[in-house]
Amino acid sequence: MKLHPNIKNQVLKALDLAISNPLSSEEIYLKFSKENKKWGARDRKTFAALFYDIYRYYKLLDFRYPDKDLVEAYLEFIEYNDFSKISEQIEASPNIKHSCSEFFWDKSENQINEKEWLFLNKKAAIYLNINTNLISLLDFSDLLKQAKIAHEVIDMATVSQDKFPISAIKINQRVNFQADPFLSNSSYFEIQDLGSQIPISTLPELQNGLIVDFCAGQGGKSIQLLKKFSPKSKLISTDIDEQKLNHLSLRAQRLNFTNFETKILDQSFLDTYQNKVDLLVLDAPCSGSGTIRRQISLKYHITKHSLEKNIILQRSIIENAINLVKSEGLLLYITCSIFTEENQAQRDFILEKKLVLVSEYQVFSSENDSDSFYFCLFRKK
Ligand SMILES: C[S@@+](CC[C@H](N)C(=O)[O-])C[C@H]1O[C@@H](n2cnc3c(N)ncnc32)[C@H](O)[C@@H]1O
Repeated sequence: MKLHPNIKNQVLKALDLAISNPLSSEEIYLKFSKENKKWGARDRKTFAALFYDIYRYYKLLDFRYPDKDLVEAYLEFIEYNDFSKISEQIEASPNIKHSCSEFFWDKSENQINEKEWLFLNKKAAIYLNINTNLISLLDFSDLLKQAKIAHEVIDMATVSQDKFPISAIKINQRVNFQADPFLSNSSYFEIQDLGSQIPISTLPELQNGLIVDFCAGQGGKSIQLLKKFSPKSKLISTDIDEQKLNHLSLRAQRLNFTNFETKILDQSFLDTYQNKVDLLVLDAPCSGSGTIRRQISLKYHITKHSLEKNIILQRSIIENAINLVKSEGLLLYITCSIFTEENQAQRDFILEKKLVLVSEYQVFSSENDSDSFYFCLFRKK
């Protein structure tokens, strides 16, 4: 591979910054992309491909090729074309073989096996969540065929051998969503990882209830709740971040959903809806350790301190959330973490509050080629 020295130099600088600083890989890509104004589209693509791939395998490459710079190491590495082969061949501690921090390895060691690691260290697949209130999965697939976009239709997801209905399309080629005239303009879909679509798909039907999305953010789960329950049930999406809620409102309008509002999460909200909610979805702020395919920096930069902060925050959010659920109402707790402290330990915390566990699942990356999620559904007594 012939590589311009400037690009190689910038990739090495970006990697130095990435490993020493907890900025997200996306932030680092954007910083370097902005600073190198003369780069054309192809330069940016080369920079991105090298930076993301090398960052994913940073520790392994650094250990295996101590005499080479990381770009040279990577170019030699890709001849193997298989991360597992090289990692089998070296004598190194597991965190180096899996290219993560010692802390990340300690926390995940008993949670995921080798197969799972292979998937978590892969580049993430691109999924579209199809708005089946506006178009069927198969009709949308036909539109993609006409636009000559290679894809697969996914209508079921497997979790612990159970199957759940999903309306997703896996895109099997590089696509520039902003530049493509069909994709940039469509209200038929949203880009969303398959793992993120699974928890809501497992919920039972609900008759004319009040649903609250408690940590709604920009609305990934809210949009799925609207798809499943609107307009029969009312959805209120709430969060402490007003900007995210504004973004969510626009998204829901673009997709033509009704019987829906956003409200800022404050004391007055907590007072107003006490014991009134039939279904509360709590997609908790968490370490994101199940999303390292897309957020590579988390493998290196989650710390004991940041994990502990999340655990405390999750408990306070859980306590507020439980107060809103009415008797016989449901609470769905979700994380995109693989750490026990944020999952099973929080499940036990909720059980201490006298809720009954209805179901519990862990979505493994290797099951559906997705991010990894944990979720459990409770009924309030
Ligand atoms: C995992 S994200 C939510 C993602 C969103 N549900 C989705 O599917 O797109 C967690 C959200 O929790 C919110 N959050 C942080 N602290 C909170 C708190 N104390 N109470 C409620 N929400 C909080 C954050 O603003 C963030 O949007």
